[in-house]
Amino acid sequence: MNQDNIVIRQEIPSDYAAVEHLTREAFWNVYRPGCLEHYVVHVLRHDPAFVPELDLVMEREGELIGHVLYTRSFITANDGRRIPTMTFGPISIRPDLQRQGLGKYLLDRSMEQAAELGAGALCIEGNLDFYGKSGFVVAGTRGIRYHGEPEQEIVPYFLLKELRPGFLDGVTGVYHTPQGYYVDEAAAEAFDRDFPPKEKKRLPGQLF
Ligand SMILES: CC(C)(COP(=O)(O)OP(=O)(O)OC[C@H]1O[C@@H](n2cnc3c(N)ncnc32)[C@H](O)[C@@H]1OP(=O)(O)O)[C@@H](O)C(=O)NCCC(=O)NCCS
Repeated sequence: MNQDNIVIRQEIPSDYAAVEHLTREAFWNVYRPGCLEHYVVHVLRHDPAFVPELDLVMEREGELIGHVLYTRSFITANDGRRIPTMTFGPISIRPDLQRQGLGKYLLDRSMEQAAELGAGALCIEGNLDFYGKSGFVVAGTRGIRYHGEPEQEIVPYFLLKELRPGFLDGVTGVYHTPQGYYVDEAAAEAFDRDFPPKEKKRLPGQLF
């Protein structure tokens, strides 16, 4: 991948509309007919768990080509401790530029910044095919469970990565998705009406 002319910087308010548009384009009909993620981005910016320093846009020659944001999350450890983690997402690459290494580049650079900010580990829901290339493992294999899943269940989509080696040594417990990700679907529908009309399609591989 050619990294020339690529800039990754913090999002500013004048980016908001373009970032929401990009997110909508990237997620549309991927996991459900239509998508909610552009509304998730819109809502999370005002969430207490939001990490402004890690709300990042990627540009090439001044054009917006990617975005990722991070939130603070935690694991309730079986010994009673509350272990701080971070979570990221939505992460989006402009559809016509996907599968060229840009998503991995944005993710890897953003994780370096998260480590500099002091994050010890990241927990996410996602596809190991993509995130495995950046060092994520199935969290259940490290004794971290996804909230709501049965005790013995190892869910393949719940992943983690230590940013500080050993950060999760001796930790077992349950991870909680930050509440801000659970948006109201009717509110998301209403929000979407301000965007250009786009056909919702039921496609193979969707989760919802
Ligand atoms: C997911 C996304 C951010 C990845 O960015 P990208 O630039 O397309 O991915 P990269 O080219 O950096 O991928 C690196 C590797 O990860 C894997 N990978 C990437 N996207 C994948 C996908 N959708 N399914 C399976 N593997 C994937 C591939 O192995 C890829 O290498 P390859 O193309 O040489 O096989 C981007 O495709 C996107 O915006 N998708 C729509 C929104 C989305 O699904 N976001 C993530 C939600 S969890």
